[in-house]
Amino acid sequence: MIKVAIIIGSTRPGRNGEAVAQWVGDLATKRGDADFELVDLKNFDLPLLDEVMPASTGRYDLPRTRAWAAKIDSFDAYVFVTPEYNHSTSGALKNALDFLYAEWNNKAAGFVSYGVNGGTRAVEHLRLMMGELQIADVRAQVTLSLHTDFENYSVFRPAAQQENAVDTMLDQVIAWGEALRPLREQALGRG
Ligand SMILES: Cc1cc2nc3c(=O)[nH]c(=O)nc-3n(C[C@H](O)[C@H](O)[C@H](O)COP(=O)(O)O)c2cc1C
Repeated sequence: MIKVAIIIGSTRPGRNGEAVAQWVGDLATKRGDADFELVDLKNFDLPLLDEVMPASTGRYDLPRTRAWAAKIDSFDAYVFVTPEYNHSTSGALKNALDFLYAEWNNKAAGFVSYGVNGGTRAVEHLRLMMGELQIADVRAQVTLSLHTDFENYSVFRPAAQQENAVDTMLDQVIAWGEALRPLREQALGRG
C-alpha cells in the first residue's frame, strides 16, 4: 500500500484547517487502500526559508530542514489541506514547499481547500507550484465553503456530499501515487 500524507497547510491559532484535515483523515482511514498520516506544519516549526542553497541542489544544512525532508520523503502521495489567504494558499504552506525539492518529485497530490468561495484560488496557485516540484496533481478536488460547510465560519459541519468528493479525490491520488512508483524507484537507482 502506498503512504499518503494529509498535510495541514495552516498554522494560525484557532485555525479551521485542523478540523478539516482530521475529517479527511477519518474518511481516508476507513478506505483501507492506503496508509494515511496527518502531517501538521506546526510540528516542524519551519522558519521563513533559511537554507543557504536552493532545495534543488539537495544540500540541507539545518537539522530542522533535514527532519522535514525525512518526513516528506517517506510518502508516495500528498493531500494538501489549504486555506485561501488573499486569493492564494497560506504563506506557511508555500514556505514548507520551498524548503525541499527531490523529496516531492514523482509523487501524486490532491487538494482539499476552504474559504469564502471554497478556496479554489488557493488551489489554482498550488497547481502552478506542483509542476515545478514534479508533483502530479489530480483533477478532483474538495472545495469547502465557509458559508455552507461551516457554522459561524468556524465550526466545521461539512455538507453530506463532500464525503463523495473526498473519495473521488483520494481514488485519483492513490491511482497516480501507485502509477508513479517506477519513476520513484528509478530515481533511487532501483528501477
Ligand atoms: C490573512 C487572511 C486572508 C484571507 N483571505 C481570504 C481570501 O482571499 N479568500 C477567501 O475566501 N477567504 C479568505 N480568508 C478567510 C479564510 O479562508 C478563512 O478564515 C479560513 O478559515 C482560514 O484558514 P485557517 O482557519 O485554517 O487559518 C482569509 C483569512 C485570512 C486570515
